[in-house]
Amino acid sequence: MLKDKKILLGITGGIAAYKAVDLASKLTNMGAEVKTIMTSHACEFVSPITFKSVTHQPIITKMFDAESDIEHISLADWADLVVIAPATANIIGKTASGIADDLLSTTIMATTVPVLFVPAMNIHMYENPIVQENITKLSNLGYFFMEPEFGILACGYKGKGRYPENEEIIFYIITYLKYKKDLFGRNVLVTAGASQEEIDPMRFITNYSTGKMGLALARAAHIRGARVKFIHSSIGVNVPEYLDSIKAVSAEKMHSAVLREYSNSDIIFMTAAVADYKPAVPSKQKIKKSGDLNLKLKRTKDILKELGERKTSDQILVGFAAESENLKENALQKIEKKNLDFICANNLNVSGKDDTEILVLGEGAEIKLIGNKFSVAHQIIDVILKSTKK
Ligand SMILES: Cc1cc2nc3c(=O)[nH]c(=O)nc-3n(C[C@H](O)[C@H](O)[C@H](O)COP(=O)(O)O)c2cc1C
Repeated sequence: MLKDKKILLGITGGIAAYKAVDLASKLTNMGAEVKTIMTSHACEFVSPITFKSVTHQPIITKMFDAESDIEHISLADWADLVVIAPATANIIGKTASGIADDLLSTTIMATTVPVLFVPAMNIHMYENPIVQENITKLSNLGYFFMEPEFGILACGYKGKGRYPENEEIIFYIITYLKYKKDLFGRNVLVTAGASQEEIDPMRFITNYSTGKMGLALARAAHIRGARVKFIHSSIGVNVPEYLDSIKAVSAEKMHSAVLREYSNSDIIFMTAAVADYKPAVPSKQKIKKSGDLNLKLKRTKDILKELGERKTSDQILVGFAAESENLKENALQKIEKKNLDFICANNLNVSGKDDTEILVLGEGAEIKLIGNKFSVAHQIIDVILKSTKK
């Protein structure tokens, strides 16, 4: 899967350096050519011979080696991707400050290919505002970061800072190498999931939406370089930590959250299945069983319509429609009524599954997309970027 890909792996002096041996081994076994730079502190944790044994490549640890070429330039030019795993607070800080005082930091400075940092450190180090500011600064400059995991840390603390599973890092690497960064600098807002409208403290009205399509779009946009805001109601899947997410369970809360973020968003994917009706007066106490119950419903606010009315000329608004009949006609009407740029329509009988079948309409496009939701999400983004000059 990674055949002929050239990965420059940077190992820094963190306790998780030993876990990167398995990463180097897996990447090599998947066909990648892996060259490794180790900082002098990394060599305190793992011997370069260990990395040499699994990558079958010489390991570079020194900048000033009379025998070799100008390594920092040749390695910087050679790589398709630079991965710093584990990334210490130190290497993040040095990169953010433009410091190039050893082979790894100098190579990072000299490369023009994507650089992915995999931070791993003590929770207090990770939460230190200086580290966070450095991560934000580098993210805004186009460097990529994986979020560390939450759990028991080597230092004995419990919290965020753990080196992620190598399988997750490899998933990132494969995806980064596969997709262009054509959404870099764009703010993308995605809503997902089924809203819940309270009948009483125990019960609510909801629908079958799983949130999988919205999550696929959020992940796809993130991987293509966008800053993603993910507003979700109830969803049947875990939200990855790297997404900047807001939970808004009811139509009312979704309305407020979306409107708060809207003016700052360039592309908006409204995949959430927000209730059209909610109980007019939810009961404060649990409703007791006694004969039939008439539930009075009232209309919720039409979020999509409101966004269409407020849309500026440089925003792209994408609606979603699940229809049980007259798919194309209903979708086209919705584009008009809600002032959308695009609509993604699907038939209710494919809703909820991992694979999907979506008809994308708008701006002259009429394209049917079939496949798993992540691949369809990328194709939707392709259609939008191709059909619009915005
Ligand atoms: C036992 C030990 C474990 C360490 N683990 C980490 C770590 O997980 N993350 C981190 O950012 N720094 C860690 N450090 C501190 C770094 O090694 C130190 O900041 C060093 O200067 C990093 O250098 P480098 O980035 O050039 O490899 C650790 C230090 C020691 C002694």
